[in-house]
Amino acid sequence: MKYISVAVDGPAGAGKSSVSKAVAKSLGYTYIDTGAMYRAVALFAINNGIDAKNETEKLVSRLNEVEIDIKYTDEGQQIYLLGENVSKRIREEDVSVGASNVAVIPEVRKKLVELQRKMAESANVIMDGRDICSYVLPNADVKIFLTASAESRAKRRYDELCEKGIECDFEKIKADMEYRDKNDSQRAVAPLKKADDAILIDTTEYDFDGAVKLVKDLILEKT
Ligand code: DC
Repeated sequence: MKYISVAVDGPAGAGKSSVSKAVAKSLGYTYIDTGAMYRAVALFAINNGIDAKNETEKLVSRLNEVEIDIKYTDEGQQIYLLGENVSKRIREEDVSVGASNVAVIPEVRKKLVELQRKMAESANVIMDGRDICSYVLPNADVKIFLTASAESRAKRRYDELCEKGIECDFEKIKADMEYRDKNDSQRAVAPLKKADDAILIDTTEYDFDGAVKLVKDLILEKT
């Protein structure tokens, strides 16, 4: 059976995950948050005292120990690292910055892309990330590049963390976001870039429901 796949790329805080999650729920698709996988690898590095930016070889030599499991519950995708549910911990700022650092390592990307492709083979999926349209699922039925202005993305990420009860500072989030934007779009392997055949959606002027409707209508039109 051929399953439908929807690929969504874009910078941090553009609303990819919240919009994709809502659209997946409404259409009965499985939502796959690939950023969570990079975050889990970053947490593995942190937990093992490995500086992912400067001790790349050390991390690569231990990648075979990194066991990531994804489970789906009423609360959505739950991510497990070595059997422990780390879904909340991976949202903290140290892991966000660490994820951007591990994401430049080709061996990390290879391992996670294999897992992502396998997941898309067995269900209708909406997968979000940075390289989904161009690299992970180049034959996706629908390809979307979701973006928004840097200021509104930082504000959204700040509100999201506050809502989850995670302590944070707006200026620090904005600075981290600028660091990650630069890191994610300038790295040599699979940089963040709109694929030529992806449809650009700028959500700066849309509220959440408006963005969800826009994406959902596009998927229904294309599939
Ligand atoms: O979407 P996010 O903020 O949870 O992603 C965390 C980091 O992982 C981000 O800095 C970029 C990286 N990432 C990536 O390189 N490729 C993906 N497919 C998903 C995320």
